[in-house]
Amino acid sequence: MTRLQGKIAIVTGGASGMGAAMVKLFTENGATVIAADINEANLAKIGEIENVIPKKLDVSSDENWAQVVKEVKDQFGRIDILINNAGISSEKPVHLVTEQDWVLMQKINSFGPFLGIKHVGEVMKEQKAGSIVNISSYTALVGMGNNPYSASKGAVRATSKAAAAELAAYNVRVNAIFPGTIETPMTDALKEAKQALNMLVMATPMQRLGQPMEVANAALFLASDEASYIAGAELVVDGGFSAR
Ligand SMILES: NC(=O)c1ccc[n+]([C@@H]2O[C@H](COP(=O)([O-])OP(=O)(O)OC[C@H]3O[C@@H](n4cnc5c(N)ncnc54)[C@H](O)[C@@H]3O)[C@@H](O)[C@H]2O)c1
Repeated sequence: MTRLQGKIAIVTGGASGMGAAMVKLFTENGATVIAADINEANLAKIGEIENVIPKKLDVSSDENWAQVVKEVKDQFGRIDILINNAGISSEKPVHLVTEQDWVLMQKINSFGPFLGIKHVGEVMKEQKAGSIVNISSYTALVGMGNNPYSASKGAVRATSKAAAAELAAYNVRVNAIFPGTIETPMTDALKEAKQALNMLVMATPMQRLGQPMEVANAALFLASDEASYIAGAELVVDGGFSAR
């Protein structure tokens, strides 16, 4: 398959879960993929895949982004695709959440994608082409999940819309994906919390959790030229959870 033939892509959080699935799928489709993550052990593993370049990046650092984007631009001369996927979650009850917890969540989950748009957006504007996909969450759409996490993902939703409107004139498309509960290391704890797991499955019209590759396939479509007139879209990949 060659749906991304010759493209240069950056996938943040590319060393685990959905990001790792995207890295694999994109390279299978002809892209060279920079897997950007803070987890060096997992980066080393994903870096063994052909046409994957592992890079250490803390998405919440302006300086880190500037450095990584410069390195990719110097090496390849362009950046065609950015997937803002890195994120953290928390199950801390609201009454225990501190200012520090709140700030950290926003810094990684919403400031991170903003910085990606800021730095990679400039490169894409210059080349008058590019596709940015931001990974939000179904918790930005319905009243579910941990409060600071939902807020951070709501910010990703709004940031996507604003960036889509701003960058479309440069032929840079910005879209967002809203995954439901997907089986990744982030949701590993659910395997032990049988009651919560059952509740989620029962509340999902498709009666099951999602798989990382099901989100990666949606990202592949939005990243590819097949989505050439799609900007500001919100693609829900949640087995119908938010349709109820
Ligand atoms: N799994 C789900 O059910 C689910 C549902 C909706 C949305 N999401 C979102 O999807 C994205 C991917 O999640 P996942 O389930 O694959 O999780 P995951 O924990 O498997 O992967 C997240 C990756 O992000 C990396 N990361 C964390 N902080 C970082 C930072 N500061 N800089 C760079 N990388 C960092 C981690 O090292 C990890 O490799 C996240 O944004 C998450 O919030 C997940």
